[in-house]
Amino acid sequence: MPMNVLVVLAHPEPQSFNGHLARRAATAMTTGGNSVRLSDLYAEDFDPCEAPRHFRSPRDPARFDPQAEQRHAWDMKSLAEDVQRHIDDVLWADLVILQFPLWWFGVPAILKGWMDRVFVYGGLYTSSRQHDTGVCCGKKILFSVTTGSPAAACAYNGREGETALHLWPLMYAFRYIGFSVLQPFVFHGVRGGLAGAAADAQRQRLLAVEDDYIRALSGIQARPGIPFNREEDWDEADTLKPGAPVYSPFIRHRRVLDLTDSPGRQ
Ligand SMILES: Cc1cc2nc3c(=O)[nH]c(=O)nc-3n(C[C@H](O)[C@H](O)[C@H](O)COP(=O)(O)O)c2cc1C
Repeated sequence: MPMNVLVVLAHPEPQSFNGHLARRAATAMTTGGNSVRLSDLYAEDFDPCEAPRHFRSPRDPARFDPQAEQRHAWDMKSLAEDVQRHIDDVLWADLVILQFPLWWFGVPAILKGWMDRVFVYGGLYTSSRQHDTGVCCGKKILFSVTTGSPAAACAYNGREGETALHLWPLMYAFRYIGFSVLQPFVFHGVRGGLAGAAADAQRQRLLAVEDDYIRALSGIQARPGIPFNREEDWDEADTLKPGAPVYSPFIRHRRVLDLTDSPGRQ
C-alpha cells in the first residue's frame, strides 16, 4: 500500500554520508510508489530554539511560558509559519524517517530543537492525548543513525555505551505523541578524516550496509517495532504495576543504580 513518507535530515553538509542516505531513502521510497517529502533542517536554516520571538500574538507578553504559549498559538492558529509547515508534514506522513548522526550521545541540536518547537503542546500532545491515545497513533517512525564509533564500542558492554539506550529517550518522545517506533537502523564506524586505503575500505563497507538499509526500506511494513508499556501497566501514581513487563532499563521494577541526590524524595 502506498504511503506518505517524510524524510527529515539533520546534517549540515549535503555531501555527508547522512545527506546521501536521506536522498537515497527518499528516492527508494518514491520508486516504491510512495509520496515523499524531504525536509532538510539545515538547508532551511531551521531555528531550533523555542523562544518568545516565535509567538506573534503572545498570551502573556510579560512572562514566557513555553507550553502555555504553544497551546495558545495552536488554538489561535497563530503558530510560526515554519512550525505550522513542519506540523502539516508530520500529520501528512504515514512514515517518518529521521536521518541524523549521533552527536554527543544524542541528536544534533537542530533536531532536538525541531522536536521542542514542532511537538506543540495542545496540538501534538495534551494531558489526555499521549502514548496509546496520542495524536500520531497509526504513524510509524524510523531512525536512521550514524555513529563515528565502531559497533563493538557501541554494544551493551562497549566503552561508548549502548547506542540503543542513547536512542531510547528519543524513541520515547515519539512514542509519547503516539508514534509506533520501528527498530532503528544504525550505521556504526562512519569516520571522517580518512584518506587513501582506509577511506576506500570504509566506502566499500558502507556501500554494503547502505544496500541492506535500502532493502530494509522496501520491507518497512514488516519491520519490528520497539515495545513500550501500555496503559494497563501503570497504577494511579503512574508507576509500573507489579508484574508489568519491563521493556527498558529506564523503566523497571528495581533501582539498579542510585546516581542522583533528590532532596525531599519520597
Ligand atoms: C559534535 C559531534 C559529536 C559527536 N559525538 C559522537 C558520539 O557521541 N558518538 C559517536 O559514535 N560519534 C560521535 N561523533 C561522530 C559522528 O557521529 C560521525 O562523524 C557521523 O556519524 C559521520 O556521519 P557523516 O559522515 O554523515 O557526518 C560526533 C561528531 C560530532 C561532529
